[in-house]
Amino acid sequence: MPDPTAQAHIDDYLSDAHSIEEQALVQMKRAHEIAGDPGLAEAFREHERETEEHERLIRERLAAHDGKPSAVKEAVMRVGGVAFILFAKANPDTPGKLTAHAYSYEHLEIGSYELLARVAQRAGDQETVAVAQRILAQERAMARRLEDHFDAAVEASEHESGSVAKYLADAHALEVQAIALLEGGQKIAGDGELAALMDEHLAETREHERLVTERLQALGEKPSRIKDAALGIGGLNWGGFFAAHPDTPGKLAAFAYAFEHLEIAGYELLKRTATRAGDLETAALAERILQDERGAAQQIAARFDHAAEAALAAR
Ligand SMILES: [Fe+2]
Ligand SMILES: [Fe+2]
Ligand SMILES: [Fe+2]
Repeated sequence: MPDPTAQAHIDDYLSDAHSIEEQALVQMKRAHEIAGDPGLAEAFREHERETEEHERLIRERLAAHDGKPSAVKEAVMRVGGVAFILFAKANPDTPGKLTAHAYSYEHLEIGSYELLARVAQRAGDQETVAVAQRILAQERAMARRLEDHFDAAVEASEHESGSVAKYLADAHALEVQAIALLEGGQKIAGDGELAALMDEHLAETREHERLVTERLQALGEKPSRIKDAALGIGGLNWGGFFAAHPDTPGKLAAFAYAFEHLEIAGYELLKRTATRAGDLETAALAERILQDERGAAQQIAARFDHAAEAALAAR
């Protein structure tokens, strides 16, 4: 039986998906220029075509629901989009950074469509379920293509930003960001499973921050040179984004999922760079932290059902 709450709010999920796709298109159009590797560039070109189709499919679903695409480009989701633009701009335009960012963004899309599919299912809207599933398959495939190009991205980045210390400093900035995200997220998640999970991962994240700092110091980096500014803490206002968004538990799950994959990509790149440089201690540290990040991402994914329920209940 269709759930009227889900029916009433499906347009919000569709408009969020539409904004995410529009933002993805902006990124895809310039990505192939900075990919630095022919295979990676082709992956971006292919996904640019797919993303154009996603935008159209979602726009059609919105029209079918009588939603107005011009009105539904809500300011709040715009903030999310802008945060990603700032994030992209705050990073050097290297193939490594591009790949990590895109990998995270694909998982933002995956998380968002997982939630949309669940809400559409509850609303009895099978057409939207089918569209979400179809797009999901392509987002997952793109994420896998990016995984297949981590090596290529490291090779292509080597001349500009290949130093182990540089990747470690980025990892450190990500962990600092993750601590803020998890601390803020707990309040939004309430007292459910997601909050418990975030609490658990917060403890791991503080440990990661400590380990990465130690490793940087072992490489002779001074704390003052451990520049968190590289990732623009101020530019990326995650806390403000989550606090402002009406659909907080659902968005929180999708964004936390994306963030974990940003960390995963960061450590995959660090591991490869360290291995190539013969720094096996750093490579081992990256591998160790990767297990935690992958575990956290899997646990978030296992709670998409819970997040969808919590999001609808919070209305
Ligand atoms: Fe997409
Ligand atoms: Fe995508
Ligand atoms: Fe993490």
